Amino acid sequence: MGSDGGKASHPHSAEIRSFGRRRGRKLSARQEMLLSELLPKVAVDPSGPAPRDLDGLFAPGTSAVWLEIGFGGAEHLIWQARTHPDVGLIGCEPFEDGVVKALTAIEAGGLGNVRLLGEDVRPLLRWLPARSLSKVFILFPDPWPKKRHQKRRLFSPDLLRLLARVMVPGAELRLATDIGDYARTALLALQGTADFRWTAEGPADWRVRPADWPGTRYEAKAGREGRCCYFLRFLRTSSGNE
Ligand SMILES: C[S@@+](CC[C@H](N)C(=O)[O-])C[C@H]1O[C@@H](n2cnc3c(N)ncnc32)[C@H](O)[C@@H]1O
Repeated sequence: MGSDGGKASHPHSAEIRSFGRRRGRKLSARQEMLLSELLPKVAVDPSGPAPRDLDGLFAPGTSAVWLEIGFGGAEHLIWQARTHPDVGLIGCEPFEDGVVKALTAIEAGGLGNVRLLGEDVRPLLRWLPARSLSKVFILFPDPWPKKRHQKRRLFSPDLLRLLARVMVPGAELRLATDIGDYARTALLALQGTADFRWTAEGPADWRVRPADWPGTRYEAKAGREGRCCYFLRFLRTSSGNE
C-alpha cells in the first residue's frame, strides 16, 4: 500500500483505496514509449470540466459507450472492442502493467474505439455525463477476503449510486467474482436499491459465463485453484433515482 494510508489520491480523500499495487516489473523501452506517446492520444481525463455528452470522445457514428472497471490484463476489454467496432469502450485500470497491455493491443489491432484511464474509476464516474453508459463490466474485482479489509471492496452501495447516475435505463451491469461472500454482499447491496434489478431466473443464469463474455486471466486462475465463479447481470431500472 502506498504512503497515502490506503486513501485514494483525489479530492474525495475519504474514499478508501480498493486496489493493490500500481506498478509491477520494470517496463521495456517500447512499453515506456507506449505510455508516453500512445496513452495521451487515447486517455480520458476526468480532471477537466465535465462534458455534456461523450460525442467528442469517440468517432462520429459510435452507437453506445461501455465501461470496464479494473480490466487487469485487458483480454475482455480488447475482445469487446474488436467484436463491437461501433461501440466506444472506456477501460479503467490503476495497475500500470494492465494499461501497458491494453496499449499494446490497441496499437497491434489498430483499434480506434478504446479510451483509457490509468486511475481509480470513481472520479471518472463523477465526471461522466448522466445516462451516458449502456454497459458496465466489473470482472473479478479485488476480493479483499480478510474481514478487516472488506471495506476496500469496490462493489458497494456507494459505487451503485455513482453507476446509477451514469447508466441509461435498461443498461446492463455485469459483475463476476469467485468469492461467494463477495457475490452475497453484492446481491445484498442490490437489494437495497431500486436502481438495479438482478436478471437471473435460475442457477444457469449466474453459474455459466455467457458467450459474449470472454474469460479473463483472473477467471482462469480461479479455475486452476478450484474456485467456482459467479456471473451476475443487473439491469438499470427506469424507476430508481437519477
Ligand atoms: C483481481 S483483478 C481482476 C482483473 C481482471 N478484471 C480479470 O478478471 O482478470 C482486479 C482489478 O481491479 C482493479 N481495480 C481495483 N480497484 C479499482 C478502482 N477503484 N478503479 C479501477 N480499477 C480498480 C485492480 O487494479 C485490479 O487490476
